[in-house]
Amino acid sequence: MSSAASPDQVGGQTPKAFQPRIFSGIQPSGGITLGNYLGALKRFVEKQDEGIETVYCLVDMHAITVWQDPEKLRQQTREGAAAFLAAGIDPKRSILFNQSQVSAHAELGWIFSCIARMGWMSRMTQWKDKTAGKNAEAASLGLFAYPALMAADILAYKATMVPVGDDQKQHLELTRDIAIKFNNDYGVDFFPVVEPLIEGAATRVMSLRDGTKKMSKSDPSDQSRINLTDDADTIAAKIRKAKTDAEPLPDSIDGLKDRPEAKNLVNIYAALAGQTVAQVIADNAGAQFGTFKPKLVDLAVAKLSPISGEMNRLMADPGEIDRILGNGADRADALARPILDQVYDITGMIRSRRK
Ligand code: AMP
Ligand code: TRP
Repeated sequence: MSSAASPDQVGGQTPKAFQPRIFSGIQPSGGITLGNYLGALKRFVEKQDEGIETVYCLVDMHAITVWQDPEKLRQQTREGAAAFLAAGIDPKRSILFNQSQVSAHAELGWIFSCIARMGWMSRMTQWKDKTAGKNAEAASLGLFAYPALMAADILAYKATMVPVGDDQKQHLELTRDIAIKFNNDYGVDFFPVVEPLIEGAATRVMSLRDGTKKMSKSDPSDQSRINLTDDADTIAAKIRKAKTDAEPLPDSIDGLKDRPEAKNLVNIYAALAGQTVAQVIADNAGAQFGTFKPKLVDLAVAKLSPISGEMNRLMADPGEIDRILGNGADRADALARPILDQVYDITGMIRSRRK
């Protein structure tokens, strides 16, 4: 779906300047993968370090759109928070919390469920993928409505920029359409039209077992992904066993076309090393995987083992993690509550309880 309005037009009115603010979220529906790290987390840290206001969320209410064992969900939420902290999120400079502690998300999510159209939702490729070959009638209503809650996550803070991996692009277009429709329906210039930040060499990290499939927390094969909690031996074994073709690395980016597995390993290398894909190709042209894979193992272990070490240290004190999440939720609530109060006013809801 594409929206009629251009990014700088809001509700057909003169564009208003919104304060720059970044929001993004990760689902605690499993362990954090290398895809999450390179496509999202590493970039969340870069944005924080650029000095922009950053709000980051473990979206536990999104996670329950598919069944989650309650004890595992709690554990995975803490592990996700530990990953954010270990990767370099500073809870003083960024706001870090879990979604369910700030009720504005659910409240605005409902209102956006009344703005979004069934047709918009049914065109979401993630919905179609998740129900493909399965009985869509048995999927939860929440899974279908999921993108409306995602729009609420972002717009409850009037966030203007959202760093995500490539798979979230369509959901962000929908967020823009919801903001535009809300502004138009109510004749206001209230919500910003958000800008997706999909950047870098690893916006789509692929499975180590199948270069045409996204690396995912929910893949049944643990060999398909690197988890941030994997130790050095596990990382090495997974990369050594990663599927490749028989050709050496090419001498141009063009030569990676139609070689999804080779392209994936080169992209991962570039993102971990902080180099461009062109640089990696220039340095490794003609190399066999027997040479390139050990280099990738060394790089991955060097970059990831400090993070897993720090995660383990943090996970030993779950009370401290919960305290950080609670503090972040207080600060998030203070930003979102006045925005929600205005939304209730705009939509005609009486708010007469004594405070
Ligand atoms: P999720 O695990 O679906 O909650 O994703 C959290 C963030 O990580 C989103 O910004 C995703 O786009 C990003 N992400 C997830 N998997 C990948 C992947 N394989 N490659 C790049 N980014 C990813
Ligand atoms: N839908 C995202 C994913 O599955 C997670 C998410 C929920 C999110 N709310 C968000 C990402 C808000 C960015 C902004 O990856």
